[in-house]
Amino acid sequence: MHIPFNRPFLTGREFEYIHQALAGGKISGDGTFTQKCHARLESELGIHKALLTTSCTHALEMAALLLDIQPGDEVIIPSFTFVSTVNAFALRGARPVFIDIRPDTLNLDETKLEGLITSRTRAIVVVHYAGVGCDMDKILEVADRHGIPVVEDNAHGLFGKYKGRYLGSLGCLATQSFHETKNFSCGEGGALLINDPQYVERAEIIREKGTDRSRFFRGQVEKYTWMDIGSSYLPSDMLAAFLYAQLEARDCIQSKRQRIWEYYDEHLREWAADFNVQLPTIPPDCEQTFHMYYLVLPTLEERHRLLTHLNDSDINSVFHYQPLHLSRMGREFGGEQGQCPVSEDVSERLLRLPFYTGLSEADQCRIVSVLKAFACDSLRSGRQHIA
Ligand SMILES: Cc1ncc(COP(=O)(O)O)c(C=O)c1O
Repeated sequence: MHIPFNRPFLTGREFEYIHQALAGGKISGDGTFTQKCHARLESELGIHKALLTTSCTHALEMAALLLDIQPGDEVIIPSFTFVSTVNAFALRGARPVFIDIRPDTLNLDETKLEGLITSRTRAIVVVHYAGVGCDMDKILEVADRHGIPVVEDNAHGLFGKYKGRYLGSLGCLATQSFHETKNFSCGEGGALLINDPQYVERAEIIREKGTDRSRFFRGQVEKYTWMDIGSSYLPSDMLAAFLYAQLEARDCIQSKRQRIWEYYDEHLREWAADFNVQLPTIPPDCEQTFHMYYLVLPTLEERHRLLTHLNDSDINSVFHYQPLHLSRMGREFGGEQGQCPVSEDVSERLLRLPFYTGLSEADQCRIVSVLKAFACDSLRSGRQHIA
């Protein structure tokens, strides 16, 4: 009866494709399945170039290298995000400038952007939280006016849209995650999406240990050599084979996830309104990815009690993110309490419900009833206590 927070989903063709990769005699990076994944991402998203990477973390590191981020440069990054978004730039010596989020979508608050730009700002990194697009028109307008490149951390947002355009196709660079918790997965994996063609050649070199090996494999040079700094950012073709089976099943995966998201939404809306629990907001110009379902409880204490109750009922629910500006590293960069008040507040109250492609309706029904039974009593008594 245990309901995990996440469980990997198999489309049915993963092992067949891994077997084909093995039979083809080449399982290192950039084999047949890697090329198939690249072509599929490029054609479906209508983007210039896709390069598979070993993780979204590594794709972000590649973005920081491609933008030539130097010590002392400033990069504007939401405080409410996964640590890799900032770490990739801190590795290059950049100083993160943390921006707060909007209370509705939990995306970067575009109204705060202009005020954080200085003569040292070298990049703006946006995160499409839960696969719901940031207000990219406003963000790109400010960034373009100051000549600052925008990187989309699109870990949650593959195949999501903003005003009819795919997330990941809007910044000069974007990154994807294929970690096991994501809609499309190969266990650990990622991709760098390149929308500005000026970055393609150097990206291939950085990804291949700083060499022009990709050109050598295409027969464009007679031998390959050290050209630039770089690392080994390309995954084995066996992982690409696994991933290809998932990308091929896009419609099947997304329709299952849509059903799961809508079940939660339908069964929790009324209850949430009664008990002052905030549910996800999807602006009308965004097509979301059904990546996660979260609740924002009235207080930290309520979140703690509900989490404990769900886990005691064998339902594994989790929370994230700790505001980065208040982390040990964030404080070393000058982060302090009150700097990003919405991030600080939401991070104490947000709870993520189990969400994975194979989650059954029977399990969802149990989650909803366990949750409602507890939260009704608990929140009522909480109210009486406050009164
Ligand atoms: C917003 C965001 N960016 C980056 C990452 C890192 O992804 P990966 O595990 O593929 O490195 C995550 C991971 O969940 C994430 O949520």
